[in-house]
Amino acid sequence: MRVLVTGAQGQVGHELLQRVPDGFVVFGYGSRELDISNAEQIRTVFDAIKPELVINAAAYTAVDKAETDVELAYAVNSDGVGYLASASENLGIPLLHISTDYVFSGNGEKAYTPDDATNPTGVYGLSKLAGEKQLLERCTRHLVLRTSWVFGAHGNNFVKTMLRLGGDRDTLSVVSDQRGGPTSAGSIADTLWALASIFQRDGRLAWGVYHYSGFPDCSWHEFAKEIFTQAAGLGLLEKPPYVSAIMTAQYPTPAKRPAWSVLDCQKLEDAHGLLSKNWVQELQMVLLQLKTSRSA
Ligand SMILES: NC(=O)c1ccc[n+]([C@@H]2O[C@H](COP(=O)([O-])OP(=O)(O)OC[C@H]3O[C@@H](n4cnc5c(N)ncnc54)[C@H](OP(=O)(O)O)[C@@H]3O)[C@@H](O)[C@H]2O)c1
Repeated sequence: MRVLVTGAQGQVGHELLQRVPDGFVVFGYGSRELDISNAEQIRTVFDAIKPELVINAAAYTAVDKAETDVELAYAVNSDGVGYLASASENLGIPLLHISTDYVFSGNGEKAYTPDDATNPTGVYGLSKLAGEKQLLERCTRHLVLRTSWVFGAHGNNFVKTMLRLGGDRDTLSVVSDQRGGPTSAGSIADTLWALASIFQRDGRLAWGVYHYSGFPDCSWHEFAKEIFTQAAGLGLLEKPPYVSAIMTAQYPTPAKRPAWSVLDCQKLEDAHGLLSKNWVQELQMVLLQLKTSRSA
């Protein structure tokens, strides 16, 4: 099966290309080879490779910058998804798409299910929700996988930021009043490939919107402490810094962060038999990967 992966150089895109299962031929396009906000470029690439399935890992992900870069955020996260959806519909092929916990307000108290009401508070979340709507309206064979707090050995993320800061400082302050599920980019890629494999085998999937994130839920403060404990254990840091817990109000950012980002992933298990991963174990694998690449 011929698969087009967009955003191939991002965290998830990179892992998708590293983990291609047997039976798939993958065409990975970074933003320079295929700008998804350009409908003409999409047509040219579709004509050239004739994909049988598309995985969209491309997105405008600069949450704070999006507040002032509104046009570009929408061009990529909404229009771009719409163009991919229409091109996929023309060929009658599925489009697997990644979305985010930021489509919710973050005011919840129990894990969000895919059917819960959306209500983004910033431009990034609004643009991603607009992209979901474009996909659902334009492409029959659609699957939206919402995820949260993505980390991996490749690209920029909280784990790598903590390692960098932890190497320079004795103490750090991290917010403790935002909760979510850290999710490894590798586990998202594996999940998308598992979905593609089901489609390849059965010729169909239970189309719709799903949640996929790591468990158990935690605060950024708890996540940071676990990163430092594991990193020190692996010799990636000389000693873990002291991590003090602060409130979101003490760490102002241009875009409001959801206080509650916990996603209920049951629907994905019920419909496709796919389970969430324990992020503590996934973190161990990512840190081992970073250690190997540092000593290489
Ligand atoms: N990171 C998170 O914590 C998080 C949380 C929840 C959901 N998500 C979602 O997960 C998905 C993957 O995110 P990620 O963490 O892998 O993000 P990422 O590392 O920022 O990767 C996104 C990729 O998209 C590319 N891109 C940007 N504009 C593009 C365009 N116009 N055309 C084609 N490619 C373009 C970027 O390329 P350039 O770098 O060259 O611009 C980048 O390589 C996204 O849908 C994101 O919204 C992420």
